Amino acid sequence: MNRRYFTTPIYYASGEPHLGHAYTTVLTDFLARYHRQTGAEVLFLTGTDEHGQKMQETAAKLEIEPIELADQMAQRFEAAWKDLNISHDRFIRTTEAEHVGVVTTILQRLWDKGQIYEDLYSGWYCVPDERYWTEKEVGPEHLCPDCKRPVNFVEEKNYFFRMSEYQQRLIQHIEDHPQWIVPETRRNEILGFLAQPLQDLSISRPKSRLQWGITLPFDDEHVCYVWVDALINYVTASGVLDPEGGSDQPGFTNPGNSWWPADMHLIGKDILTTHSVYWPTLLMAADLDLPNQILAHGWWVMGETKMAKSLGNVIDPLALREDFGTDGVRWYLMRDMPTGADASYTPERFLARYEELANVLGNLASRATSMIVKYREGVVPDAPGTDLDEAIRATLDAVTTHMDGLRIHDALASAMDLARTANVYVDTREPWAQAKDPELAGDLDETLATLARVLTVLTALFLPVTPEKMTVLAKLLGLEGVPSLEVAVTINLTGRTVTKGIPLFPKPDLDA
Ligand code: MSP
Repeated sequence: MNRRYFTTPIYYASGEPHLGHAYTTVLTDFLARYHRQTGAEVLFLTGTDEHGQKMQETAAKLEIEPIELADQMAQRFEAAWKDLNISHDRFIRTTEAEHVGVVTTILQRLWDKGQIYEDLYSGWYCVPDERYWTEKEVGPEHLCPDCKRPVNFVEEKNYFFRMSEYQQRLIQHIEDHPQWIVPETRRNEILGFLAQPLQDLSISRPKSRLQWGITLPFDDEHVCYVWVDALINYVTASGVLDPEGGSDQPGFTNPGNSWWPADMHLIGKDILTTHSVYWPTLLMAADLDLPNQILAHGWWVMGETKMAKSLGNVIDPLALREDFGTDGVRWYLMRDMPTGADASYTPERFLARYEELANVLGNLASRATSMIVKYREGVVPDAPGTDLDEAIRATLDAVTTHMDGLRIHDALASAMDLARTANVYVDTREPWAQAKDPELAGDLDETLATLARVLTVLTALFLPVTPEKMTVLAKLLGLEGVPSLEVAVTINLTGRTVTKGIPLFPKPDLDA
């Protein structure tokens, strides 16, 4: 059985969803939909990261309990994903009892295996990034090397995970699996990082400083470090561990029947180290398989700066949606960012991408459906409709190659090129002239049948990116739903009733 398990990061429940979060989530949705289309059974997981110091501090500022903040924000993320037509199967919250159970199970297991020890920690901590830095890393100014904000000095008893013991095994794994971290620049970054001795990882916080977390099963004065808690969400949702199972219960793993290991963790490059160093070493220590692949994408930037809430430069995807529709936002995100690289958001580029959608795909759909209605009373004529078969075949090959290489932007460019080719076909065939000459009735039939076929293929090609509008288009073509690609290229459309709809991608009223 072809099964695929895709995950997004779980987003901090301390801030609103923005375009950056939307990108990872739409990208994952795109892959989930693409694979479902090919008949795979998919588990698509997203959710919210609800513990930690940042949550505790944000809630305190708002004078509410952390759980109230978490409840509000989890709802906001869920609503945003609904608005963006995200097809996740599971929305996980790290405050759920099931997750708390699985984290406790893993911590106990690591403790029993001697993988965790107690020691004194002194160093610098960045609350917004929820991570420690060394004296050398923060420099004389004591600024977080990542986000450049001031760090706090902490000295306290901590529990440490023996991460250093897994350094060689991890390097070996990365070397043996060239596609484990993609793109290659990110893989090299991690190999570079691992060229230095790996430290052990602090996995706890004393409750005197942080109460909002999962209590360690072997010391109730400490909570689990939020990153360890958060990463485990991927295992929780997979069903591989019994949340009720302590480590004294052998057989608490259920590998045969679970979704573990994940096929792909999709993340931004900001959280590469946690996912490709902390996470696999924790899994090794817990005797669990490693995920099959980690895809680290680039950042949406404004000018030169990363889009981030703390920098006050975030774009709200839901506001864009009001003007351009859900599919307009999804198309822009998928088409404009080369997978893995950074991309700069500008309103001009957004508009240019939307116009491509409207003027190429939208225009083709409206021309083709109107002409079938006008010249053949809406019935797809009985003709082979094979004029563009070669272009269709070449497009499918190109899309498959690009998708195999995870170049989603290129796959979409190829799909859009097919719509462009079909528009040129209309211009060259001049169906309006064919319609005037009764001797060309057969040619007109062929033109219209070809257009119906190519549009059907386009509904399938665009479904993962513009699902709402492709469902509408399939209906206009008299189809019961968007067919799979395989069906789209072979289905006999003769006799189907086509209707003319309103424009799929209308001109936005930007003055309103
Ligand atoms: N809670 C952690 C992740 C834990 S996963 C076990 C976290 N959350 S976050 O809310 O800060 O989200 C980070 C993720 O949001 C990034 O990895 C990326 O997927 C996405 N993005 C946030 N800002 C972004 C951009 N400006 N551009 C692209 N994506 C970015 O880190």
